[in-house]
Amino acid sequence: MQNITTTLKRIFYLWKRGQVPVKKPIKISRIDNLIIFLICIIISIISSYKFLLLSPLDGSDIRSWFYTFNEVLISCGILILVSKKENPTITSRQIILIVSLLLGVQVTKIIFASTISPLSIIVPPALIISQGMGTITALAWVSIASITWPESISILNNNLLFISLTCACIVSVLGGRIRSRAQLLQLSILVPFGAFLSQSILLGNDSSSSIYKEAFALNGKIFSDSLLLAIIMLFTILFIPIFESVFGLLTKARLLELADKEKPLIRRLSLEAPGTFEHTLLICGLAEEATRMIEGDIDLIKTGALYHDVGKLHAPKWFIENQEGSKNPHDEIDDPFKSAEVLQAHVDEGLKYARKNRLPIPIINFIPEHQGTLKMGYFFHKAKEKNLNISENDFRYKGPIPQSKETAILMLADGCEAALRAMNINASDNEALDVISKIVNSRQKDGQLDNSNLSKGEIFLIKLSFLNVWKRIRHRRIQYPTSKNNTFS
Ligand SMILES: [Fe+2]
Ligand SMILES: [Fe+2]
Repeated sequence: MQNITTTLKRIFYLWKRGQVPVKKPIKISRIDNLIIFLICIIISIISSYKFLLLSPLDGSDIRSWFYTFNEVLISCGILILVSKKENPTITSRQIILIVSLLLGVQVTKIIFASTISPLSIIVPPALIISQGMGTITALAWVSIASITWPESISILNNNLLFISLTCACIVSVLGGRIRSRAQLLQLSILVPFGAFLSQSILLGNDSSSSIYKEAFALNGKIFSDSLLLAIIMLFTILFIPIFESVFGLLTKARLLELADKEKPLIRRLSLEAPGTFEHTLLICGLAEEATRMIEGDIDLIKTGALYHDVGKLHAPKWFIENQEGSKNPHDEIDDPFKSAEVLQAHVDEGLKYARKNRLPIPIINFIPEHQGTLKMGYFFHKAKEKNLNISENDFRYKGPIPQSKETAILMLADGCEAALRAMNINASDNEALDVISKIVNSRQKDGQLDNSNLSKGEIFLIKLSFLNVWKRIRHRRIQYPTSKNNTFS
C-alpha cells in the first residue's frame, strides 16, 4: 500500500514538474468583447431563425430554434477558446476576423446555398485561418461552418458535404505548415482538382436521385464548381497580404519574406555595420538550434534575430564589433551616463526603424525584449568609480523583459555569442558549457526569464544546443592538414 502511495506521489511530482506555466493572454478590451459577442449572437440568429418562420409555429419549433440558437452560440465560444489556446497572444482583431468569417459564411449560405457548392463557401476562409492562426483553430472553424446550415441540410448532397469537409480539413492542415506563396498557389490548384475528381467519382456513381446529381450531370456543374473554388482560392491568396496588415496576421510566408537578407534594412546593416551583421548571423544560428530543441517557432526567431540590433545603424561605430581597431568613442567622451544613453538608443532607434519599415509586432517585440532590463555592467562600474551614490536603474535597459520563449532564447543567445566567439578553440566542451551556464544563470537570477514561459528543462536544453553550435564553430575553425599531392581528398 505504501509503495502505491509513494508511486502515486512520484507520478504527481513528475507531472507537476512537467507542467509549463500558462502564458498570460493579451487583455481584450470590453468594447472588443462586446463586438465579438454581438457577432456571435448575429451568427446564432442567422443559423436558427428559419425555425421561427415555419407556420403554423408550435412549441416544438420554438424548442428547436432555442436549441439551435444556443448550440451555435456555444460553438462560437468554443471556437474562440480553441483559438486562444493555440495562440495565447491572439489579439481582439484576430478573434473578430475569425467570427466575422463565420458570419460571412452563414450569410453566403443563405443567399447562395442552392447555387454555390459548399466547397467554395468553406474552403477559402479555412485557408486564411490556417495561415494566420494555425491548423487547430482552422479545423475548429471548419467543423462549425460545416455543421451549421441555416437552410435545411436535406437539399445538399451528403457526398458533396463530405468532400467539402475533407477538402477544408486538408487545406487547414497544409495551410498551417505551408512556408511559401508558391506552395500556396500549388494548393489552390491541387485542392480544386482533387475536389473535381472526387466529385466526379462519388457524385457520378451516386444511385440516389437527388436534385443536385441531376443538375451536376446535366450542365457540368462539377467542373464549374471546382473552377470557381480555384478562382476564389487564388483571390484569397492575393488578399492574404491585406489580411496580414489589417489584422496583424503573421504567416510563415511573410516571415520568410522578411528574413530575406536583400531586404533594405538588413542590406544596410551588412554595409554600414558589418560587425553587427556578423554578430546577428551567429545569433541566428544559436537561436535557431535552441528553438528547434524546444520545438518553438523557428521561422519567427530566425526573422526576429535578424532585426534585433537594427537600431545600431543609428551609430555603428559606438559598438565594439564595428570599431575594427579604431578609437572607441566611449573612451573619448569618458561619460558613463552618455554611453548608457547610446546603448539604450540602439533599442529606441531600432523600434523607430522597425515601425518605419512596417515590421509585424511579433518581430518588433524582439528589439526591446532581447535586452530586457539588463544592467549595462561596464558603464555602471565605471560610473560607480566616479560617484558612489548613483542608481543602478540609470544603467539598466528600459525593457520589457522577454514575454515569449523565442525572445528569451534570443536574449540568451545574444549574451553567449561574444563569449563563445572569443573562446579558445582548444577549450573543452565542459569549459564551453560552464561559460554558457554562467551567462544563462545570471540572466535567470536577474529575473529576466520570469515572463518567458521557459521551463527549467527547456533552459537546460537551450544550454546544450548552444554547446552544439559552439562545437560546430570550433570544428570550422580547426584547419585541416592538407598534403601536397592530395589536396582534394
Ligand atoms: Fe542589442
Ligand atoms: Fe545583439
